[in-house]
Amino acid sequence: MARPRSEWRCSQCGHAAPKWLGRCPVCGEYGTFIEEAPSEAAAFGASAPPRTPIALGDVRVDPATRIRTGIDELDRVLGGGIVRGSVVLLAGEPGIGKSTLLLQAASRLAAQCRRVLYVCGEESAEQVRLRADRLGADGRVLLLPDAEVEGVVATAKAQAVDVLVVDSIQTLADPATPGLAGSVSQVRACAQSLVALAKASGVAVIMVGHVTKEGTVAGPRILEHVVDTVLSFEGDREHAYRVVRAAKNRFGSVSEVGVFEMTGTGLEPISDPSGLTLGQRAQDAPGTCVFPTVEGTRPMLVEVQALVTRTWLPAPRRHAVGVDLGRVHQMLAVLEGRTGVRFGEHDVYVSVVGGVRVSDPAVDLPLALALVSAREAVPLSGPLAAFGEVGLTGELRGVPHGAARAAECGRVGVKTLLAPDGAGTLAADGMSVVRVASLRSALAQAGLGNAG
Ligand code: TYD
Ligand code: MG
Repeated sequence: MARPRSEWRCSQCGHAAPKWLGRCPVCGEYGTFIEEAPSEAAAFGASAPPRTPIALGDVRVDPATRIRTGIDELDRVLGGGIVRGSVVLLAGEPGIGKSTLLLQAASRLAAQCRRVLYVCGEESAEQVRLRADRLGADGRVLLLPDAEVEGVVATAKAQAVDVLVVDSIQTLADPATPGLAGSVSQVRACAQSLVALAKASGVAVIMVGHVTKEGTVAGPRILEHVVDTVLSFEGDREHAYRVVRAAKNRFGSVSEVGVFEMTGTGLEPISDPSGLTLGQRAQDAPGTCVFPTVEGTRPMLVEVQALVTRTWLPAPRRHAVGVDLGRVHQMLAVLEGRTGVRFGEHDVYVSVVGGVRVSDPAVDLPLALALVSAREAVPLSGPLAAFGEVGLTGELRGVPHGAARAAECGRVGVKTLLAPDGAGTLAADGMSVVRVASLRSALAQAGLGNAG
């Protein structure tokens, strides 16, 4: 019999090849191929007896199948709590707050007399204790500073835990699999053991997976296929808001987000980010406009700010935080070309306050209003909000979720909302909705665009 040949595998995306390749043909990364020892593939389905399938209607569903963590913003993203026997991956950059969030969730669960096992492969038990003291965490959380997956699985079974937290999957090792902890084969083997545990015993498993700024390290990309739910933790370390988003959810919607703020005593859920935005807003300052953005399906008010100053440079500066710079360039061009507001001798700075990165195209109109308001040093009157995509001819285009945006504006006391023509019926008590068809008419409605 021929000697089984080893295969080469991309450590980024897991693509397998019979020989070493300089560049992965699937994910396009360079120098990521590593050799893996041959696996003893069992003869496929050789002598397995047939099993008895279950009719779909006969499958029993336990009503107590969801476990609420008690952190509402997290439960919301999970679709109402963690489902028993499900596997959740929490992916995010190092330092974003994954360990903090999971220790807080573990503590809440322990306080409800759930049995929680927290596997802290990244930190020692003392380090976790120090963090727990800062968070005021419940002392009943069970810690396991173990790095072997079999030990973890056996402990979870023996302790009859409800929830198993693995921080992180990259530090877990399976001695039966070749490679170092964190390599593709190790991560996959460990994840499969945890999935098997969850499906067989009903333990809900939450595992942490690190990703880097450049993309994914060994792991998360492959893990997405084996887990039930992928949550990604996003946000800038320097900014206030951190957003937990479901990228995949077999037991809920993928359009929910949870918003948190990192404080000295852990992550604080922010149940009303819109109220916070409006509350902290500078009144009557030129160059700001409120924007009802939609993250997933959740409407949320953010503030778009612009600063326009005379330039002393040969090429004026354009700088954007929280919104794509290309969008700002395009909006400046549309404003110059279609409404005659000139920015050629001015530096332009744009920022979306709060640390939320806006990719919603409806940011165009509030962006344009903030820019012109800053350029002309005329504040927008009243708490004015706006949304709508602006085309290259200066026409306003409708965007989805108009009604949800209007309702959110009305809820927090916005007085006037500028919306594109034909964005469906928009109504809210005490708020007037002004329909505009073009950028020019939007500027006129806001009392801008007269300086020329
Ligand atoms: P951490 O949860 O360890 O991040 P991750 O597990 O995703 O790598 O913590 C993230 C950062 O948060 C860390 O730099 C310290 C900070 N932090 C606070 O500001 N307040 C706190 O109460 C805690 C526990 C951490
Ligand atoms: Mg951590």
